[in-house]
Amino acid sequence: MTLANPVFVALDTTEPDVAADLSRRLAGRVGGLKFGLEFFTANGPAGVAAGRDPSLPLFLDLKLHDIPNTVAAAMRAVARLGVAVTTLHAAGGREMIRAAVDAGRETAAGLGLPAPKVVAVTVLTSLDRAAAEAIGFVGPIEDQVRRLARLTQEAGADGVVCSPLEIEAVRAECGPDFTLVVPGIRPIWSEVGDQKRFLTPGEARARGADILVIGRPITAAADPAAAAARIQAELGL
Ligand code: C5P
Repeated sequence: MTLANPVFVALDTTEPDVAADLSRRLAGRVGGLKFGLEFFTANGPAGVAAGRDPSLPLFLDLKLHDIPNTVAAAMRAVARLGVAVTTLHAAGGREMIRAAVDAGRETAAGLGLPAPKVVAVTVLTSLDRAAAEAIGFVGPIEDQVRRLARLTQEAGADGVVCSPLEIEAVRAECGPDFTLVVPGIRPIWSEVGDQKRFLTPGEARARGADILVIGRPITAAADPAAAAARIQAELGL
């Protein structure tokens, strides 16, 4: 997947005014906007419409996980919002993923919109090995990530969300056409915050990331537009 600017800025706020202000300031500096569960739960579709800049593609990060029928219904609603990228949990299984992908494609086609890219979370990066074993994953987390990435691909989804340190393993498992969405990105000049395993934007691109999810290095900067411009320059855009 090739985007002119691979950076989706994570607008992790519950305030539509804050999102709208950042969206306006960042138009032309980032490739898209990511709204997550906290924003969507607080504000719903109307909040997304108010908080986005219509010139920027929308990434709605809801990490859906339920029975296939319910996730398909939610995906139809997501597709009606004109979403470019959205997420679900691979642990929902092959049938759930397939139902979500089909629902997104059918709804978008009916509206004459591009189908939303459906990407899966494999193993939450907040889980360490002990926590992953406690919920039934057996063996190294990297094995689980590869296995669930393969399942995601076989179920017809577009890609996965993965940590910077998983890029090469997932790419080797799933090939060049699988979309890798990568958070945990920190420019060398930014505060690290709570991201423990990070790469710079350039390093993540060089390893094969397709979409870079970057939040606080841009949103918490004194001048968000300048921070985004600096990242653009570092990526040679
Ligand atoms: O501010 P920061 O750049 O850390 O924001 C990262 C974004 O990526 C947040 O929206 C966060 O929810 C998301 N994310 C993450 N780590 C993951 C998956 C998603 O940081 N493993």
